[in-house]
Amino acid sequence: MIEIIGPLVHTAAQRGARGGAQKPAPLQKQLIERLQQAILGGRLPAGSLLPSSRLLSAEMGVSRNTVVIAYEHLAAVGYVVADKKGTRVSPLSSRAARGESSAPPAAPEVAYAARVGQFAATRKPVDNALPLTPGTPALDRFPLAAWRRAMERAMERSLPRALGYGTPAGEPALRDAIAAHLRMARGVRCEGSQVVITEGAQEALNLCVRLFTNPGDVAWIEDPGYRGAKAAFRQGDLTIQPMPVDAEGICVPPAAWAAQPPKLIYTSPAHQYPTGAVLSVARRLELIAEARRAGAWLIEDDYDGEFRYSGEPIASMQGLVDDAPVLYVGSFSKTMFPALRIGFVVLPRAIAEHAEVALYEMLRGGHRLEQLALAHFMESGEFGRHLGRMRRLYRERQQALREALSEDFAASEILGGESGMHLTLRLPAGIDDETLTERAFAKGLGPRALSSFALKPRAGTNGLVIGYGNTPAEQLAPAVRVLAELAGLAAGREKPRRRRA
Ligand SMILES: Cc1ncc(COP(=O)(O)O)c(C=O)c1O
Repeated sequence: MIEIIGPLVHTAAQRGARGGAQKPAPLQKQLIERLQQAILGGRLPAGSLLPSSRLLSAEMGVSRNTVVIAYEHLAAVGYVVADKKGTRVSPLSSRAARGESSAPPAAPEVAYAARVGQFAATRKPVDNALPLTPGTPALDRFPLAAWRRAMERAMERSLPRALGYGTPAGEPALRDAIAAHLRMARGVRCEGSQVVITEGAQEALNLCVRLFTNPGDVAWIEDPGYRGAKAAFRQGDLTIQPMPVDAEGICVPPAAWAAQPPKLIYTSPAHQYPTGAVLSVARRLELIAEARRAGAWLIEDDYDGEFRYSGEPIASMQGLVDDAPVLYVGSFSKTMFPALRIGFVVLPRAIAEHAEVALYEMLRGGHRLEQLALAHFMESGEFGRHLGRMRRLYRERQQALREALSEDFAASEILGGESGMHLTLRLPAGIDDETLTERAFAKGLGPRALSSFALKPRAGTNGLVIGYGNTPAEQLAPAVRVLAELAGLAAGREKPRRRRA
């Protein structure tokens, strides 16, 4: 046997060879591994009779007990079978039984599900903390001390209970706090029982797809539009129909209702992503009426509706009429921080009651301490104070970005209202937005190409989506200057324009 599995490394021999530097594995472990390797490698083919424990212990220079335990372990995981006649190698696989090498084969071609191929390779891994990245809030202005207190409070009051599974729809305290906030701040008609807590808006979108569609159903989406919504629709094997967007938001050709009746319609009415358009009331009412007629659901993604810097807040579409067929989706990624991964969907009352059983199967209640801390953060007024501070900060940053863009991209149209955390710049056709963003990344800047949000190539979708949430006001003008220089190069301009003193 020693010729097949090789000698074991005894402590004394090992010390002699390496000067006591490294201890060998215990003999029992070594013996198990050697026998396993010999079986898997075909050197001990299926059916071979292993030596008795007495013989092997003498041959390998180990105690009989070591061999007995090794054989028992190999038998427990199925490498060998023991009967009255002795211990034999099990028939593991035909290759092993024939004694062929079990060397790993060359990596096979992976047969992914068809939907995986639809995820175009447009999203490159980039650092979301780069200046000008859209969608990232001011991470260094988050009130960490208050959040730490809220987390500690949650731990003091709820441990160890909150280490267990929670209610699948989320902590009741947080659902109630969200409902109270949405009623007051966003005009949403809801109770806590209608709020389902999710892992960010993304899981809320996925949940809408799973609750309300079957594969092949038609889903409409704003174009250009949010990639996360497209990803959710693709995961549900839906037939995606792009709907154009203009200055009044999503613009549905009237014939589309009959031609391609949808099951789901994704919208971002308060601040269309990424063009910044506000969906007009006339269109909201029409969408609600038509969706009701068609038996479709409107997803209202209110991702940054809290941040409006002038005039009255734009109230939600959900609250416009009674029992609107609206699934109101929200997120704390911008109002708190993205890594919190807490979002929610507000279901219509009847659905919330009816879907409870399905939700219990589809979701698991986790992140309980964070949810409890967030509930307290909201109830105690910390959340409201943080929002107030961030509104002032973002207003200032948006103003600085507007000024810089008006100066360095004077001929380009700036899209986006008085809200959110990004502005969108339309570029002339001569400047390719993808090339420009590649060059910007190389310079440590993170704007996104407007065209990367479009499903259909359309006029007006060449541009930059520029975030200001996580970029200090004083860094915006120099960063825009770099973009202008790069755009100048991209357009074949030799020298950048000089900035006014
Ligand atoms: C349009 C839109 N919706 C929702 C979200 C938030 O998604 P999540 O809560 O999954 O982070 C974002 C984040 O960038 C967004 O841009």
